[in-house]
Amino acid sequence: MAEKQEAFRVGIVGCGLIADKLDDVPPLAPGRIAMPWTHAPAYSMVPDMRIVAAADVNDAVAREFAERWAVPAVYNDYREMFQRERLDVVSVLVPNFLHCEVTLAAVEAEVRAVFCEVPMASTLAEADRMIQACAEAGTELVVDLGSGRWWAQEYLNAREIIDTGGIGDLVTMTATVTGGLLLNGTSLLDMLRFFAGSEVTEVLGWLYEPPSTGSEYIDRGASGFMRFENGVEAIFSGRDGKPFVEWDIMGSEGRIRIGNNVLDLSKLSGGGGRTEIVSYQFPQRYVAKSPRVAIIEEIAACLRGERDSISNGADGRASMEIAMAFYESDETGGWVKLPLADTSRQVKVLHGPRPWE
Ligand SMILES: NC(=O)c1ccc[n+]([C@@H]2O[C@H](COP(=O)([O-])OP(=O)(O)OC[C@H]3O[C@@H](n4cnc5c(N)ncnc54)[C@H](O)[C@@H]3O)[C@@H](O)[C@H]2O)c1
Repeated sequence: MAEKQEAFRVGIVGCGLIADKLDDVPPLAPGRIAMPWTHAPAYSMVPDMRIVAAADVNDAVAREFAERWAVPAVYNDYREMFQRERLDVVSVLVPNFLHCEVTLAAVEAEVRAVFCEVPMASTLAEADRMIQACAEAGTELVVDLGSGRWWAQEYLNAREIIDTGGIGDLVTMTATVTGGLLLNGTSLLDMLRFFAGSEVTEVLGWLYEPPSTGSEYIDRGASGFMRFENGVEAIFSGRDGKPFVEWDIMGSEGRIRIGNNVLDLSKLSGGGGRTEIVSYQFPQRYVAKSPRVAIIEEIAACLRGERDSISNGADGRASMEIAMAFYESDETGGWVKLPLADTSRQVKVLHGPRPWE
C-alpha cells in the first residue's frame, strides 16, 4: 500500500487581516465568493497542507494567530523561521513593499512555493526580481490574482460565456471599485485581463488625493480608461464613496454583470426589428468553493507534480504595470503606452486603523 504523504509544511509571514482576520469583518466581506477569504482557515481545509510556523514583527499578533490556528512555532523574524523550519510553502502576507525581500529570502531558503498577496510588489523592478529568482530556483510563484477570483467558479463561468461567444463579441467593460488602486484596484485590473484575454496597450488615468490619515499612505484611488490589444476597451471607475465591487461586461449580443451583489446575464433575443433584451439565469452548475481553498489545493497539486498553477508572477506584474501607467498618465495628462520603460516607481500600500483596534 502506498505510504500516506506527509503534509506540506506551510509558513505564514504576516499575521494580520488577510492571514485570518478579514473573515471576521462583515463590512469587508466580498460577497458572491465562497468563504473563507483568508489564508489560515483555507490551509486548514486542505488535508495535505499544515501551517507549522508563523512570523510577525508584532509578537502579540503572531502569538494570537498561532494560538487560534494551533501553529506550533512563532517567530518575529521571518528569516529565522525560514532557516529553522524547512518550509515547502510560504504565504507572503506583509505589506506590498516587503513582498520582494520575503520572496527572495524564501527562494534562498529553498521554499518550493510562494503564495504572494496582491499587489505583488511595490515596484515593477521588484516584481521582475521575484519572477527571475523563482524561475531560476524552480520555485512556484503563485500570485493571488483578482484576490482569488481567477479561481472562483462564477468568474470562470463568466469567462467561458465570453470565450464561447455567449455575449457576442466582447466590446467594452466597466470595473467599479473603491479604495487604493494598488490595494483594491489591482484585483479588478487582474479580472479585466482575465475577461478580455488580452493585454492592455494604453492607459489614460487620473488619481484622487491621498486620504488625510497616515502621512506615509501613498496608494491612491484612480479612475480612467484602458485599451486592449484585441480592440476591447475598459473604463475603470475607482472613485471613493461607493461600496460596490463590480464588472459590467458588454458584448455585441449580451451583457454580464458580476460583483458583490449581482450576477446577471442578459442577451439580445429575436430579430427582424423586434429585438428585445432577455435576462437569463446565470449558469451555476457547481458547488461553491472558496477560491482561497482552490488556490491552496492547486499549490499542493503543483508540489506533487500533477499540474501547473494558473497563476504566475507575470500575471501579477501585468496588472501592477497597468496601475503604474495610471500614475504616469496622471503626471503627463495623456495616454500612456505599455510596456512602461520606468520600472522604478514605488507605490506603497499602508493601512489605516484596524476595525478591531
Ligand atoms: N486578496 C485580498 O483580498 C487582500 C485583502 C487585504 C490585503 N491584501 C494584501 O495582503 C497583504 C497584507 O495585508 P493585510 O491587510 O493583511 O495587512 P495587515 O497590516 O493587516 O497585516 C500585515 C502584518 O504584517 C506584519 N509585518 C509587517 N512587517 C513585517 C515583517 N518585516 N516581518 C513579519 N511581519 C511583518 C504586521 O505586523 C502585520 O501584522 C498586503 O499585500 C495587502 O495588499 C490582500
